[in-house]
Amino acid sequence: MSEIADYRRSLARSLASAQRHTVPSTFTLGSRTWDLLPQVFAPSESPSTRTALELLGLAGDGARAGGPLLEMGCGTGVIAVSAALAGCERVVAVDINPAAVRNTAMNARRHGVADRVRTVQGDLFSSLAAVMPDERFAQVFWSSNYVLAPEGFEYRDIHQRAYVDSGYAAHRRYLAEVTHWLAPGGSALLHFSTRGDLATLLNVAGECGRALSSLGSVTVQEGEHEVEHMLLEVTVAGNRPAPARAVPEERR
Ligand SMILES: C[S@@+](CC[C@H](N)C(=O)[O-])C[C@H]1O[C@@H](n2cnc3c(N)ncnc32)[C@H](O)[C@@H]1O
Repeated sequence: MSEIADYRRSLARSLASAQRHTVPSTFTLGSRTWDLLPQVFAPSESPSTRTALELLGLAGDGARAGGPLLEMGCGTGVIAVSAALAGCERVVAVDINPAAVRNTAMNARRHGVADRVRTVQGDLFSSLAAVMPDERFAQVFWSSNYVLAPEGFEYRDIHQRAYVDSGYAAHRRYLAEVTHWLAPGGSALLHFSTRGDLATLLNVAGECGRALSSLGSVTVQEGEHEVEHMLLEVTVAGNRPAPARAVPEERR
């Protein structure tokens, strides 16, 4: 396992971040100020949120978005709220962490888009099936906890769930279930990085009957390491829409 992909490193980052943010506070990303609640993934501590905005074309004040969008794992709500501010007609923002759901609702109110951002607490798609079984989305997106922790790893607290996925169990369910929530012509997206284990993810996708292709990538200097962040599209295997770029052989 490379140093940057070591889950113990990610857990140390989680602990350090959680200890630094023990009271409600604010941070700035782009030209906007955002609320941050304790125990919620802090975009100020990682380049991941900013990079996700770039990969989705939501960075900058002139960004435009259509929708409807389902954001899985919304955290502070920066991506969900930015999509709404960019014109996305309807955004549903889901997180397993109740504090993240509250945090997203706060930021939707702060930025005047509470009427277009609906928050739902739940484990991946499980609550949606109960509260909006017939909704379908033009885009479903998850900036995931892409660092692989060993199968059977037990989370010490909810904050760690933002950083690591035990045995890629959550990724497996996301890949298997995400396409169900797409409107015709919609796209299922995953923000992944070289901190994750792409070879294992591709195996899991194959086992679920899913194909992954890369829609774009951004390389970010994280401390002394270069980390490649990528936007992957998930399709039903054998049913891949044209012109996405397959994940290169050498990264498998
Ligand atoms: C890397 S953070 C991204 C947060 C936010 N989207 C951002 O970019 O700042 C991953 C998020 O996924 C959430 N998450 C992890 N496992 C989940 C699950 N099984 N169901 C729903 N959300 C989950 C975490 O709580 C966390 O908020």
